[in-house]
Amino acid sequence: MSQQFDVIVIGGGPGGYIAAIRAAQLGFKVAAIDEWKNAAGGPAPGGTCTNVGCIPSKALLQSSEHFEFSHKHLAEHGVKVSGVELDLPTLIGRKDTVVKQNNDGILYLFKKNKISFFHGRGSFVSATDAGYEIKVSGAKEETLFAKQVVLATGSNARALPGTPFDEINVLSNDGALRLGAVPKKLALIGSGVIGLEMGSVWRRLGAEVTILEGLPTFLGAVDQQVAKEAKKAFDKQGLKINLGVKVGEIKASDAGVSIAYTDAKGEAQTLEADKLIVSIGRVPNTIGLNAEGVGLKLDERGAIVVDEECKTNLPGVWAIGDVVRGPMLAHKAEEEGVAVAERMAGQHGHVNFNTIPWVIYTSPEIAWVGKTEEQLKADGVAYKAGSFPFLANGRARALGDTTGFVKFIADATTDEILGVHIVGPSASELISEAVVAMEFKASAEDIARICHAHPSLSEATKEAALAVDKRTLNF
Ligand code: FAD
Ligand code: NAI
Repeated sequence: MSQQFDVIVIGGGPGGYIAAIRAAQLGFKVAAIDEWKNAAGGPAPGGTCTNVGCIPSKALLQSSEHFEFSHKHLAEHGVKVSGVELDLPTLIGRKDTVVKQNNDGILYLFKKNKISFFHGRGSFVSATDAGYEIKVSGAKEETLFAKQVVLATGSNARALPGTPFDEINVLSNDGALRLGAVPKKLALIGSGVIGLEMGSVWRRLGAEVTILEGLPTFLGAVDQQVAKEAKKAFDKQGLKINLGVKVGEIKASDAGVSIAYTDAKGEAQTLEADKLIVSIGRVPNTIGLNAEGVGLKLDERGAIVVDEECKTNLPGVWAIGDVVRGPMLAHKAEEEGVAVAERMAGQHGHVNFNTIPWVIYTSPEIAWVGKTEEQLKADGVAYKAGSFPFLANGRARALGDTTGFVKFIADATTDEILGVHIVGPSASELISEAVVAMEFKASAEDIARICHAHPSLSEATKEAALAVDKRTLNF
């Protein structure tokens, strides 16, 4: 006999667990299924983001930044320390504790919202006009039934053809977050978000890091003024990024990894490294769902096909997050989770794809929302742009971190903000003001006329808005 629910959510990552909570808030009887296991085999909800993504990577970025700061920059502040040592097991252990706090927090939230949590793999058994039967295969097998199902099964790391992840020498984001020792030489393939964040972590901890990138342009999707400034900073830090390469044969042995590639000049090269992280994008995950069995439509990339409301081709079945089109970001998955729950309740859930912020948590941080100059040129949109350097910001000087700038792009006629691009200290936090402004369709002039606290990094945002009309006050 199946257990009856109004809504079954499969996948407990940021998309799924938030959808489950919002659905429960709206009065639905909700079941949430997630198969992620912690080291002891117990439940570890939170998905990629909590277990091997956003949270652990930011914990390692923070710890590695402290380490580098203490022996490279603390003396500039007149604080002398000696004998700074890396205790990698403690650093990794702290990261594991942070992950567990988040797993436990989600289990608590399930309880608080009276959501029935099932630990195991969810798969479709049958689809009828009455609803969907879902089997949970875990420590025991259970069968659930609901009229509405939310699929939030996430994504997996993409492997290079012929080079599967062994998580010993050839690492995905999973192995990259739990190395037992700092590799002397670390190679990465792909200088996207993971390549830059994980490359930064291990470089700060002492590895000699080389990133091989297939494209000739660094961070091609990012505003190129920002990308150039970031590249300059990474070069200075000693993060080697080789653009325009073609990766060939990869040989992994106990001794390490050997990567044959052709460089941008077309010359054959070999990169020898102790470890290799492959960070070339992610693939949507529908493994074990029995999508074919119920006729769930997937596209050629394996993503679940959805319309703009996250409806699949099966009535009452919705899909959100990394397993569908759009940016693979935790906050995008969360917004879709909320919107879908509200649509199930007959409300008008809404996700504005134009105001989803992106952040790369390197040093300097890179953050943006909206259009780049390159996109606007390609679209033939007339715009005006202005930027303000952190070098001219008092707080940045006091912090001792003056790399980068804030850049505003506004419509040439209406002055509406079309994009904001930041490279520099606390870009991840500063970008929120731009998101709010764009969500409310503010003009650059609106931001320029708002009082910002002094001294604060946010004054650079106000000044960049002033720069759009060439009237900066401090530069
Ligand atoms: P996921 O988080 O992947 O969750 C899916 C869950 O479903 C998993 O727990 C999985 O085990 C479970 N599951 C799958 N199939 C089944 C099944 N059949 N039955 C039961 N359970 C199932 N994004 C950001 O916004 N900010 C960041 O800083 C950031 N950093 C990242 C760092 C790294 C190293 C990586 C890899 C990703 C990062 N991301 C970041 C991306 C972010 O992790 C994803 O966009 C986000 O996790 C997607 O959420 P989701 O709910 O769609 O899927
Ligand atoms: P990515 O798409 O960001 O970058 C992949 C890079 O690999 C690209 O630059 C691409 O040109 C390159 N590449 C692809 N195939 C290649 C090949 N054969 N040889 C050489 N280079 C190749 O993907 P990444 O870094 O794996 O991250 C996956 C996703 O996870 C991101 O797109 C993002 O959505 C999410 N993420 C988000 C973070 C954040 O928000 N801070 C942090 C980490 C991941």
